[in-house]
Amino acid sequence: MNKKVVVLGVGYVGLPLAITLAKVGYKVIGVDVNKKIVKAINDGSLPIKEKNIENFFIDKKVKENFTVNEKPDYADVFIVCVQTPIDQVSKMPDLSHTISAIESIAPFLKKGNLVILESTLPPFTCRRIIKPLIESRTKLKVGKDVFLAHCPERVMPGETFYELIHNNRVIGGINSKSAHLAREIYASFVKGDIDLTDDVTAEMVKLMENTYRDVNIALANEFSLVADTHHIDIKKAIEFANKHPRVKILNPGIGVGGHCLPKDPWFLIHSDPKNASLILTARKVNELMPEKVAAKIRRILKNIKNPKIVALGLTYKPDSDDLRESPSLEVITLLKEDGYNVVSYDNFVKGHKYRSIANIAKGADCLAVLVEHTAIREELEKYEAKIKSLMRTPIILRIGTSYKPDFFDIKKDEK
Ligand SMILES: NC(=O)c1ccc[n+]([C@@H]2O[C@H](COP(=O)([O-])OP(=O)(O)OC[C@H]3O[C@@H](n4cnc5c(N)ncnc54)[C@H](O)[C@@H]3O)[C@@H](O)[C@H]2O)c1
Repeated sequence: MNKKVVVLGVGYVGLPLAITLAKVGYKVIGVDVNKKIVKAINDGSLPIKEKNIENFFIDKKVKENFTVNEKPDYADVFIVCVQTPIDQVSKMPDLSHTISAIESIAPFLKKGNLVILESTLPPFTCRRIIKPLIESRTKLKVGKDVFLAHCPERVMPGETFYELIHNNRVIGGINSKSAHLAREIYASFVKGDIDLTDDVTAEMVKLMENTYRDVNIALANEFSLVADTHHIDIKKAIEFANKHPRVKILNPGIGVGGHCLPKDPWFLIHSDPKNASLILTARKVNELMPEKVAAKIRRILKNIKNPKIVALGLTYKPDSDDLRESPSLEVITLLKEDGYNVVSYDNFVKGHKYRSIANIAKGADCLAVLVEHTAIREELEKYEAKIKSLMRTPIILRIGTSYKPDFFDIKKDEK
C-alpha cells in the first residue's frame, strides 16, 4: 500500500481517521488551517481527547507514515473532514469550510485522484456544489478524470478508534466507479459492512440517522415535560413503558448538545421545509429544553430568598468531557442572567472539579444535577440523605425525575 492520502481537517473526525490510515500503511498528510492544531500535533501534544489516542499516536507505523501540515500537497486520495456548522441565527448550513477545503486542494488535483467527503452534508452538496466547484477550478471532469464520493462519519466521540473500525459504513459515489474506488480505501481498515450507493442517498442516510435520534430524544423530553405537569416520575414511567415489546423510549434530558445532533436535522429541514414538519417540531422541543429546565428550577425556588444553586454536570452528555453545544451551560447562563447565585461543578471539566457532592452542596438551596455522570449517580445513591442534611434547603433536582413524590408509596405495604 503506497498510496498517499491527504486528510483535510484534523479535528475530532479527521485526526483519528488520519492516524488509522497511517497505521494500516497509507502515507498520510493531515492538513489543518488552524496553526495551533498543526503545531500541537507536530509537538506530540494531541488537540483532542479520545480513548487510546496516545497509544495509536506513538505506534511505529503511525510515526513513520503520518505528518501534519498547514498546506495540502499532491496525493492519490483527498479526504475532507472539516466542520459543517449551521448559521446560529438563520440555521442555514454553512459550507464555507468545505468549499475552502476543496479550493485548497484544487491546484494539486490530477487525473485518477479520488476526493472523499466525510463531513456531514446537506442533500445534493456533492453533485450541485462540490462537482461544479472542482470542475471550475481544474480542467478535470468529475466522474471521469477525478472521482468523488461521500462517506459520512458515524463515530461517537470517546469511542472513535473502535467505531472507525467496527462501524458499518455507507459510501455514496457521484458515479459507480467513484463509490468502488472509495470502498477500496475503507476496506483496508473497516470490519463492518460497507454499503455502496449514490452520493445523494449517502448524504440523506447520515442526516436521517442523526435526525432519528433527535426526534426520539425530543419525544422523551416531551414525555418528561408532560410527566412534570402531572407529577409523574418519568424514569419509572419509561421503565414500565419499555417493557412493551415494541416500545423503546429514550432517556429524557435537558436538551441536545454536541457537534452533530443540534445541527444535522436543520440540513434536512432546509432541504425540504414543506415536508420536514415533524423534524422541525422536534428540533424546537429540544432547543427549548434548557429554558424549560431553567423555568422548573425557578418554580421550585420561588419561595426561597436569595437561593444558592449548585449545578452539577456541565458536558453535553454523561461520562464525557465534551462541552460543545452543551445545554447544561445554557441552563446555567439563563439562571445567572436572572440574577441567581449559581456555582457549577463537573469533574470532567478543568476549573470545575470538586472533592465530594456533600462538600459542594453544603449550605445550598438546590442541587441541580444537569448531567448525571456515573460517578454522580453512584455518589447520590449512596449519600443522598447526608447531602440533603448539609443543604440549607434539601432540594436535589435530578433531571428526568419528578420533584414531587409519587401519589403514594407503592412499597409501603409490602411485607
Ligand atoms: N465529532 C463527531 O463526533 C462527528 C461524528 C460524525 C460526523 N461528524 C462530522 O464530521 C465533520 C467534522 O467534524 P469534527 O467534529 O471533526 O470537527 P472539528 O471542528 O473537530 O474539526 C474540523 C477541523 O477542520 C479544520 N478546518 C477547517 N477548514 C479547513 C480547511 N479549509 N482546510 C483544512 N482544515 C480545515 C478546523 O481547523 C478543524 O481543526 C463535520 O461535518 C461533523 O458534522 C462529526
